[in-house]
This record gives sequence, structure tokens and C-alpha cells, in this order.
Amino acid sequence: MTIDIESNSFERTLVIFKPDCLERHLVGLILNRFEDKGLKIVGIKMIWMPKEKGEIHYEQHKQKPFFDFLVQYITSGPVIVGILEGKDAISVVRRMIGPTNSREASPGTIRGDFSMSQQNTLIHSSDSIEAAKREINIFFKGEEVVPWKRTIKNRLYGEEELQ
Ligand code: PPS
Repeated sequence: MTIDIESNSFERTLVIFKPDCLERHLVGLILNRFEDKGLKIVGIKMIWMPKEKGEIHYEQHKQKPFFDFLVQYITSGPVIVGILEGKDAISVVRRMIGPTNSREASPGTIRGDFSMSQQNTLIHSSDSIEAAKREINIFFKGEEVVPWKRTIKNRLYGEEELQ
């Protein structure tokens, strides 16, 4: 059964804390940014990605000269894969991360604040609804996604956004 990723523009997006992120001990700090923003964690786990999963994850870049590097890099150490949920989560997370070339990323973005590289970019996130659906289903089984509701009054969104 495929995992639902969209409901009333509440979206789910896949994030991967890449090997350089773990090696630099930045996972907590970056996860904290997503939580502070108001994104809800509905799935998270640590894996060492096998080569075949790396190739499937990056399959749309198969023709790119850096494809082998991409797969080698993402499988070079453990990663943390997570699912974040929120209104327009896909574009919100992409903007928080910043552009691929970290040297061009604005201060305040994750890459703008913590990376100098176009290759070791700390974090991946889905770039569209289709990508999120595909990527979440590569790394998560249905039972590993844990939907939950906040028990404190929800002040993150206005009433009209919750219709
Ligand atoms: S592209 O070329 O527009 O498709 O690139 P982009 O969508 O920005 O990036 C796709 C992933 O490829 C990585 N990337 C690179 N890796 C190594 N070398 C070079 N030159 C390079 N350019 C892009 C980039 O970090 C993206 O990885 P993810 O994991 O999706 O963030």
C-alpha cells in the first residue's frame, strides 16, 4: 500500500540527513530548525543506504556526469531519513534548505549557514509532490509512518487553513 502524502495542502516530504551532516554532528541542530518552523515529524530512522537504494533514489539523474558520485556519496556512511508534515511542506522545506550550490545559498538557509559545498550539501528534500510520493515509498513502509495530532491547542495555523 502506498503512503499518502497530501491532504488539504498538508503535505509530507522526505528529508535525508546526508553522511556529511552526521559526520559534522549537525543532525540535531538542523532537525531543530524544522521543528521550530512548525513541521511535524511523522517518520524517522537511521539507515546505511545500500547502493541499489541510492541508485533508485537518484535514478532521474542517471544521465548526469555526477551520478556515480551521488550514489557513492549517499552510501558512504549512515544517513537519517525522515518524513516531515505541514502545510505546503515540500516548498517550505526546500526554501529552508537553500539552493544546491551552498556557496550561493542565502544566510538563514541551512546550506547558507552550514555548508560551503555543491556536493556535500548536508540534506536532501523532495522537490515536488510526485518526488515526495516516490521517495517516501522508497524508504518507508506504511507502518513506519506515525500520524499524530498535537494535544496542545494548535496555534501554528489560522482556522481557515485547517478547513
Ligand atoms: S540538476 O542538475 O539541476 O538536476 O541538479 P539538482 O536538482 O540541483 O541536484 C540534484 C542532486 O545532485 C546533486 N548535485 C551534484 N552532486 C555532485 N556534483 C555536482 N556538480 C552536482 N550538482 C548537483 C545535488 O546536491 C542534488 O542532490 P540532492 O540529494 O537531491 O540534494
